[in-house]
Amino acid sequence: MSLSLSADQPAVPDDADDGVWLECIECGETFAPFDDIRYTCDECDGLLEVRYAELPTFDDFEGHGVWRYADALPFDSGVTIQEGATPLYEVPSLEDDIGVEALRIKHEGMNPTGSFKDRGMTVGVRVATELGVDRLACASTGNTSAALAAYGSRGGIETLVLLPAGKVAAGKIAQASLHGARILEVDGNFDACLDIVQELAGQGEAYLLNSLNPFRLEGQKTIGLEILEGFLADYDTVPDRIVLPVGNAGNTSALYKAFRELVQAGELAEGDVPKLTGVQAEGAAPMVEAIENGADEVMRWEEVETRATAIRIGNPVNAPKALPGIRETGGTAVAVSDEEITEAQRDVAGEGIGVEPASAASIAGLRKLRREGIVGDDERVACLTTGHLLKDPDAAAAAGADPESVPNDLDGVLEHLSE
Ligand code: F0G
Repeated sequence: MSLSLSADQPAVPDDADDGVWLECIECGETFAPFDDIRYTCDECDGLLEVRYAELPTFDDFEGHGVWRYADALPFDSGVTIQEGATPLYEVPSLEDDIGVEALRIKHEGMNPTGSFKDRGMTVGVRVATELGVDRLACASTGNTSAALAAYGSRGGIETLVLLPAGKVAAGKIAQASLHGARILEVDGNFDACLDIVQELAGQGEAYLLNSLNPFRLEGQKTIGLEILEGFLADYDTVPDRIVLPVGNAGNTSALYKAFRELVQAGELAEGDVPKLTGVQAEGAAPMVEAIENGADEVMRWEEVETRATAIRIGNPVNAPKALPGIRETGGTAVAVSDEEITEAQRDVAGEGIGVEPASAASIAGLRKLRREGIVGDDERVACLTTGHLLKDPDAAAAAGADPESVPNDLDGVLEHLSE
């Protein structure tokens, strides 16, 4: 099986519930969606996707935010704090400077907890209530934990988060803490945290809400749907390319799924699907390595390091969904240095938009690909910025100017300003 853009709408299996079922992307086995808890295929351990008997068209969407797209989701409503409907900013100076036909920034930092994770959690926690679980858990580089803590407490379910000790930005830990999650700091990196939490979930200790959970990716599809609707409204066409930071490759997989479903519904021509273009930090770039080598699988990097701690990930668990997404859409993947990331963070800040380092990777990647001629000057591009500047105040302060000390009197201040 492969996740092809030209796949036909599948037949509805007997185990579908109200036209919704789970299907293994490797062997095609199908499962009832809410009878049992499972994250991967019972038969072959492959990743699962949510399937629908009926796929919506743009005309079916109404309302505001993630739940505008209810017809593309397994439920009509969820545990919500008004996620989605994020700005698609114009950035004229950056557009000129990078040299593309059009550049827009989809700023997911404007979600309730300051990252795109809220879109997945509004659906994922809704599913958890359907399943009747009493504890939620995730491994996280920070943003997932902040979102899970908020949506877990909103949904009245206990939340456990496993974080790599010393490698999570201050704003994110503060959120998880205040929203009442139990925070376990693991002496290891994100991938080690995910290994442990998967075992915990496997033993029934908690319901896993990392992006391995297929329902979370359903919520994240709405990023792609919003970008397309925004471009159609402003340019009367969808973007040529969407550039996004890659960690576990959940968003890459989710956007690809959104586009495949639009193609199947006859709403988007195969040739018009935006080129999915992933960006990683040089110190954590297993996905880029696989794309560059034309490999079928991503090899796990045991050692990873980058200032962009959100994407300090060596084992992108959604790679089997994301690799076809990048290839089938004609996209690519590129690695950028920490210096390029910080430079891009300043560039975006110059347009008044505050993003965390991982988010700035998308702009750094676009700049690099444009310089190399891989992105053409005639392209209309959307860059995804995944998290807010305030998530990582230390990185922002380090990238910005230092405060200046002045005396406590007007003359002293005037003198200082004239220096
Ligand atoms: N950008 C930010 C700000 C993130 O927090 C993440 C992932 C990504 C990009 C990568 O997205 O996994 O869909 O490729 N953060 C996860 C977390 C791992 O735990 O918060 P992806």
